[in-house]
Amino acid sequence: MSSQPKLRILYTRAEIEAKVDKLAGKIRRDYLGKHPILICVLKGSFMFTADLIRRLNFPLEIEFVQLSSYGRDRESSGKIKVVQPLHSPIEGRDVLVIEDIVDTGTTIAFLLNYLRDKKPASLKLCALTDKPSRRKVPVTIDYLGFTVSDKFIVGYGLDWDEKFRYLPDICVLEGED
Ligand code: PRP
Repeated sequence: MSSQPKLRILYTRAEIEAKVDKLAGKIRRDYLGKHPILICVLKGSFMFTADLIRRLNFPLEIEFVQLSSYGRDRESSGKIKVVQPLHSPIEGRDVLVIEDIVDTGTTIAFLLNYLRDKKPASLKLCALTDKPSRRKVPVTIDYLGFTVSDKFIVGYGLDWDEKFRYLPDICVLEGED
């Protein structure tokens, strides 16, 4: 890739906001009165989680885990590391995991197994984006924002080599070889 990658907007901040609103509406209906624990998967889903929670606006708890598989590469290494484990018990709780992207599915499948072992009452997944054409491990996404084709996307929390997370829009990183 060239040293000056080009960015093309795929989803504008307004489109993202409308999608987050819609997802929040569904989640609110399903979880109202249940006091769920939302688990933000760092780092990619920090912006999505923050926006979603503000729209949910009902009593819930928030926890963070950090996993890592990509490093500096564009392909998942397939070896998942728990960088920051879950510190609070989730046994008997309704748990909703918030992810920015499901690509091969390796990371989220690993995380869901890790969480399932902790015996939550229920365990669901909300993902902002999904790349089904890349899937290697089957994953059920209970709440999905956007289905995207096999392009490398950045912005709204998503990075390439820690760059572009700050962008308010979701962009395609062009100039790929
Ligand atoms: C990204 C993303 C997902 C995962 C998806 O995380 O946030 O967790 O990759 O890829 P997969 O479905 O092929 O496993 P990354 O390891 O890049 O960490 P980050 O969230 O800190 O950017």
